[in-house]
Amino acid sequence: MGSQHEENEKTSSNDDAPQQDAASIADVSVEVSTVDHMLQKLRRKFRKTRRKPKGLKRLLAYLLNIPHIAVITTAVVFVVVVIIWSLLWVFIFRRESNTGVYFAGMFRVAQVEFIPEYRQAESHEFASMANKIQHVVSNVYKMSSLSKLYKQTVISDLSNNNKGGVLVHFWMVFVVPRLKRPAMCDECIGAIFRDSVHTSLRNRSSVGYLLGLPVDIDSILINSVQRSDYTSSVTGSQCVDKLYANLPGARVPLNVFSSWGGVSCQMKLTGVPGFLIRLTITSFHIEPSDCVNDALVVYDALLPMRGRILHRLCEPTSSSFSIVTTSNVMLLSFRMTNGNKSFRGHFEAIAEEICMSQIETRLEPEITGQIYSPFYPSMLPPQCSCTWKFKTPKSALGVALHFQNYVLKPKDLKGCDSGWWKVNEMIFCGSYVGHRTVFRIADHSPDVEFRCSSRNSVQPFQASYSSYNVSQPCPESHFLCNSGLCVEKSRRCDGLDDCQDESDEVLCSRPTKNCGGNRPLHPLFVCNGETDCHDGRDEVNCTQETTCSAIRYQCRSGSCILKKNAKCDDVPDCQDHSDEVDCACGRPSPLKRVGSSKVTERIVGGVNSGEGKWPWQVSLHFAGSLYCGASVLSSDWLISAAHCFSKERFSDPRYWSAHLGMLTQGSAKYVAEIQRIVVHEYYNAYNAFDYDIALLQLKKSWPPSLSPLVQPVCLPSSSHTVTESHRCWVTGWGYRSEDNKVLPSVLQEAEVSILSQNDCKKIHSLVSPRMLCAGVPSGERDACNGDSGGPLSCQAPGGGRWFLIGIVSWGVGCGRENLPGVYTRVNKFTSWIYSHIS
Ligand code: ARG
Repeated sequence: MGSQHEENEKTSSNDDAPQQDAASIADVSVEVSTVDHMLQKLRRKFRKTRRKPKGLKRLLAYLLNIPHIAVITTAVVFVVVVIIWSLLWVFIFRRESNTGVYFAGMFRVAQVEFIPEYRQAESHEFASMANKIQHVVSNVYKMSSLSKLYKQTVISDLSNNNKGGVLVHFWMVFVVPRLKRPAMCDECIGAIFRDSVHTSLRNRSSVGYLLGLPVDIDSILINSVQRSDYTSSVTGSQCVDKLYANLPGARVPLNVFSSWGGVSCQMKLTGVPGFLIRLTITSFHIEPSDCVNDALVVYDALLPMRGRILHRLCEPTSSSFSIVTTSNVMLLSFRMTNGNKSFRGHFEAIAEEICMSQIETRLEPEITGQIYSPFYPSMLPPQCSCTWKFKTPKSALGVALHFQNYVLKPKDLKGCDSGWWKVNEMIFCGSYVGHRTVFRIADHSPDVEFRCSSRNSVQPFQASYSSYNVSQPCPESHFLCNSGLCVEKSRRCDGLDDCQDESDEVLCSRPTKNCGGNRPLHPLFVCNGETDCHDGRDEVNCTQETTCSAIRYQCRSGSCILKKNAKCDDVPDCQDHSDEVDCACGRPSPLKRVGSSKVTERIVGGVNSGEGKWPWQVSLHFAGSLYCGASVLSSDWLISAAHCFSKERFSDPRYWSAHLGMLTQGSAKYVAEIQRIVVHEYYNAYNAFDYDIALLQLKKSWPPSLSPLVQPVCLPSSSHTVTESHRCWVTGWGYRSEDNKVLPSVLQEAEVSILSQNDCKKIHSLVSPRMLCAGVPSGERDACNGDSGGPLSCQAPGGGRWFLIGIVSWGVGCGRENLPGVYTRVNKFTSWIYSHIS
């Protein structure tokens, strides 16, 4: 056996693997048999070490053995993968988790004369000045607690400045581990720089010396910016243009076309020092997309600083308007995607306005003249001021200011954000409203001071002024509204908001019908589509043409009829039949349901709805989950509440989707993306959600084949009145109750009734004329969180169409006794809605 084994051994040097295997098996069987064999084995081992070359060969053979190749390849692959992974981790992922954080900033270097060469970044003078400044800024941050994160400063521009010296515009880059990002706040970065200047302030001036560089501490402004802002400006920018207005008043044309391939372009405008820049936009042709694709952002700076945005233009426009800066620089940042997009306009350097005048009013109470906001008709910049010194001919006469869409209210604890006013030492805040107002000053020589106080550019205003009799502000037979307007006494308690703030409708008793009396019938009963008097006298001559007013229906021709709810009632009332056009709305055709609806405690006190019962009901999802409701207005427009979109993140249409034709969550017939969100310009979250209305345009219309399961609701005309025989329902997928925060999956519906505005205001003091209350006294049926933006639909008497009377807006808790829900009063917005959707 032993020799046989030896033979095997000898041949194995160049044999193949199976033979080898055979040998080792033989080994095993012998190993346990004899001591001799042990000795032989030792000898063999001894011999083996002496025959080294043969061993190497053997090793090679061993390695070339197929199963071993597999093992070795796996090992090699494993090692390579580990090495590559480590390299990737070190160079890419590790770097990824350290992200760049970018800032744009500016400050003024005092006592340095600006020379024209500083305008050219290629010039030697620019380079040497920039180097010096860069060194100073770097030094500040390298000595700070953020030294490890600080990467670099790039001086982008040097501009001449209204205050003298040189204004430095710079970028700053930090490389920060992801976890430390929150520490990089704008304030912290600015504070570091300000602190260093502060410690070197001299002689009570605002100028401190950093390594000898005189820096004005008051001019320091640092803002975080997007990485893309930095990269597109600093590295390989597609287009950055610098333009100058060297002659005050001389227009410099600005035309940008997207066919130039300018997907992202910046224009830096600089004017003569001591002057401001006025940009006039004559047309902007883009696709509206809520700033997602096409946009123009105008900055009150040379770099895209968030805190210095004057205006954002994301809607196409062809009516000209202008914007004014607070200093001699402006940045236009264009984003225009491919297509036939264009911008036309011009800019010029204008002098700072000295807005101060002495005004004498006339004896008669007629309008004498106008006062205008500074730079009128340009938009108001964040800083401006004006003083008007009025004088009336008699001490018994005061000054009345008549505004179109602006109101002055005494300043409360909140700051003023649309204008600060001082009238004879009293402070007022201005705000924009959707109606006229009159502000009366009971003094014959008042000083009126106005200061701009908004963060961005805001609408300009104008006011007509007149004298008025302090002891009798309104003409005889007129009533003085809180809005300052004078309305005929006969209009008091007529159920209509003649004052625009409902002050003519307070302390009114419920209107009586007095059908037999000789006094005229209360306007509420006249031509409201219901026979209130048995002889039917309240419903005669309703379609005769008459003078127009807020309670009368206006036909497309412009003529008015008395019939209030003429729109889409299937009876052509206007001579041009315009009251019956666009009436494919508000007629649900519910599918037959299996079984009856289950009565459960939902919406608050609602029941499960049925397929097709509310075909205009929409569920709005934010980042994939239910957030609000909405209603279908047309094939591509929805209507909802402004407060659903008020916070910054919520205003981005890309996060939203609209689920149409849905009964149970998840079973929508159509899920639409949102193209843009139009929030009412006067929406005011601080004022109990006044003007709580928004329109959503769909990216793609819902297919007509989805009708009748998807269908628009009818929009009430502005004269629409809800009578007692209207049936109103609130629908939605919101919470079942205030405490049970579980969202139902089936659409809920609950019948509610509309309260009189007076009752509504007695309950909720903050109710504006643009709101209405609906509910039931016990509170058992109500909307709740999640229902917001959804419809309060009312059916015209006699099984007519359904109209969108309210939009779920707010409430105090949900379903509480004697606390009805508050809804946006839709008929106050009819023309606003049409102005956007048609
Ligand atoms: N604001 C709520 C929402 O965002 C709606 C509240 C309605 N509350 C009420 N009691 N009706 O969904």
